[in-house]
Amino acid sequence: MDYKISYFDEVSSTMQTIKSADKPAIHIAHAQTKGMGQYGRTWLSPPGKGLYFSLKNDVVLSNQDYVLGMAQLAALTVAKLLNDMTLDVKLKWPNDLYYANKKLGGVLVELEGVDKQTHNYILGVGINFEAPVAVEHATGLEAITKNVIDKKTLIAQFVNYWDKHLAIFAKSGLKTFTGLWQSYDYLLKKNTTLVYNNETFTGQSRGIDDFGCLKLCLDNGASLSFNHQASIIDINSPTNGE
Ligand code: BTN
Repeated sequence: MDYKISYFDEVSSTMQTIKSADKPAIHIAHAQTKGMGQYGRTWLSPPGKGLYFSLKNDVVLSNQDYVLGMAQLAALTVAKLLNDMTLDVKLKWPNDLYYANKKLGGVLVELEGVDKQTHNYILGVGINFEAPVAVEHATGLEAITKNVIDKKTLIAQFVNYWDKHLAIFAKSGLKTFTGLWQSYDYLLKKNTTLVYNNETFTGQSRGIDDFGCLKLCLDNGASLSFNHQASIIDINSPTNGE
């Protein structure tokens, strides 16, 4: 896929600037003044201290419910790319990238349905190069690798992986990827407490389903899947060596 790539010194957010671009497009920024994170949070994007880019395109899905798992696919794609560079990057559901128990980056997906099957999407990827000073439990790629990261190469590799992953996803959703997710899963087998619809649930985390929902095996033995509206409030590693 040939994306039109644009570089910016400073923008409010590449999620905004790319809205007026013709697809397929990629906007890369050196700095963002109003970087957007998940759940309406701010994504600190100081000059040169991270990779900040958005990709705009469309996808035709064989089942429109697959769209629910697109943010998980994007996070998984970044995780695979970084693991293939021998970095032990983990995925913390719903779509955070972790390294050594600290947040390294994350993704954001905005969707717009065109018809029943075609979806216009904007995908945003943020990876810290240096941990933002103001953020606790954060880390950065240059701090980990002790190397200067070449943004162009990293984005070119990401796009390569993304186009391949998305073609599979369009046909069969996350089905093909749940095993790979498990291999990077930060929460796997940990006792996880989350809040969903004002109710609190605790159970052992068991990966994700074909639609990107988090599977928990509750203490009473029941298995439940939670969509991204669930918010994780506590994580405990098992103490019995499981
Ligand atoms: C998260 O909160 O974990 C997701 C962060 C996504 C940040 C990226 S940086 C490039 C793009 N532009 C934005 O304003 N946000 C995304």
